Amino acid sequence: MSNVLRFNTSRARRFAVASLTTLTAATALAMGSRPKADDEATAARIQPVARVEMAGSAGAAKGSRSGEEIVNGTCGACHVAGVAGAPKIGDKAAWGPRLAQGLDGLVKSATAGKNAMPPKGGADVTPVELARAIAFMTNKSGASFKEPAEKK
Ligand code: HEC
Repeated sequence: MSNVLRFNTSRARRFAVASLTTLTAATALAMGSRPKADDEATAARIQPVARVEMAGSAGAAKGSRSGEEIVNGTCGACHVAGVAGAPKIGDKAAWGPRLAQGLDGLVKSATAGKNAMPPKGGADVTPVELARAIAFMTNKSGASFKEPAEKK
C-alpha cells in the first residue's frame, strides 16, 4: 500500500517538474528572448482584431451592425457618463439644441468630429452604421429619428 503511494507521489513530482520546466521555457520566450522583428510581426497580426473590438461588434459583420451595437461598443464610452463634455444619452436638455440639425446634420457633424468628439467617434463604422448609432442615442434623448435600415 505505502509502496504504491510512494510510486504515485514520485510520478506526480516528476510530472510537476516537467511542467514547470516547460512553463519556464515558454515564459522566457514570451518575455523577450525572441528577436524584436518577431514582436513587431505579432503586433501587426493582432492589430486588426483590436480595431474590430474598438468598433464593438459582438457578432454582426461590419456594415450590418445596429445602432445599439455601435453605441455599446464605442460611443457609450463617452456618451453614457458624459466624458469630456459629451452629451449624455438620455439628457434631453443637452441634446435638444443639437437635434435641430436633423439626423443628416448630426451625421455630418459626427463624421467630421467636433471638439473632443473624434471623427466618427473613433469607431470603425460605415456611414449607415454611424447614422444608426446617432439615431439610437438621440432617440433615447428626445428625438424621434428613424434608424436607417440595414442594406440588404
Ligand atoms: C472620446 C469621446 C467620444 C466618443 C467615443 C464619442 N463621442 Fe460623440 N461626442 C463627444 C463629445 C465631447 C461631444 C460634444 C462635442 C461638442 O459639441 O463640443 C460629442 C458630440 C456628439 C454628437 C453631437 C454633434 C453635434 O453636432 O452637436 C453626436 C451626434 C455624437 N457625438 C455621436 C457619436 C457617436 C455616434 C459615437 C460613436 C460612434 C460617438 N459620438 C462617440 C465625445 C465622444
